Amino acid sequence: MQDLLKVAMPKGRIYKQASKLFREAGLSIPEEMDDSRKLIIPVPEARMEFIMAKPVDVPTYVEYGVADIGVVGKDVLMEENRDVYELLDLGIARCRMSVIGLPDWEPVLNPRVATKYPNVASQYFRELGQQVEVIKLNGSIELAPLIGLADRIVDMVETGSTIRENGLMEHEQIFAITSRLIANRVSYRMKNDAIQALCDRLQPVIAAASTVVTK
Ligand code: PRP
Repeated sequence: MQDLLKVAMPKGRIYKQASKLFREAGLSIPEEMDDSRKLIIPVPEARMEFIMAKPVDVPTYVEYGVADIGVVGKDVLMEENRDVYELLDLGIARCRMSVIGLPDWEPVLNPRVATKYPNVASQYFRELGQQVEVIKLNGSIELAPLIGLADRIVDMVETGSTIRENGLMEHEQIFAITSRLIANRVSYRMKNDAIQALCDRLQPVIAAASTVVTK
């Protein structure tokens, strides 16, 4: 019998698209997962167990092997820098990491940069050779330049509504973000057949969706 796969699934923004993708790949994802408060959801017929995780924690569960695989945004992967295998670009939850500020922002010496992604932001400005002071916030990052906490922010832009509605401007795009399927290094070897079978089911669905996007 095929090995049981423990899958760390991000709650929130990515969940809807990830569960749709899994369903399109023929995996039976129970409806109860869509709005349940249950944190561990076994799906014996698919030989899977879903762990409903806070998105930022998905790479941690996978690195420690309490989940064999997981779905996570490239933004979180870059920030967390965990020792995991990146198996597939799922092509969902497309957005970008950007430097944002007020439209009339002028360069200052040692600017303050507010962000949920301190590692990403520090690395970006270090590579540019710019000295900045990074301030870690946990949400509503767009407030920072509006109330004078920071000169700029590094944050995710999806539809652009948040920056538009707050009179901010996207100054530079740092990298494109999509969700990825990641695997624990040991699980990847020990449960290779099950993981490979899942990738084989997902790949044609991802390919079909990307032709629709690029058309
Ligand atoms: C994210 C991100 C931006 C916004 C971008 O915040 O930090 O604020 O979404 O999306 P948009 O371009 O479609 O407007 P999130 O909704 O996760 O909430 P947060 O402010 O609590 O981080």
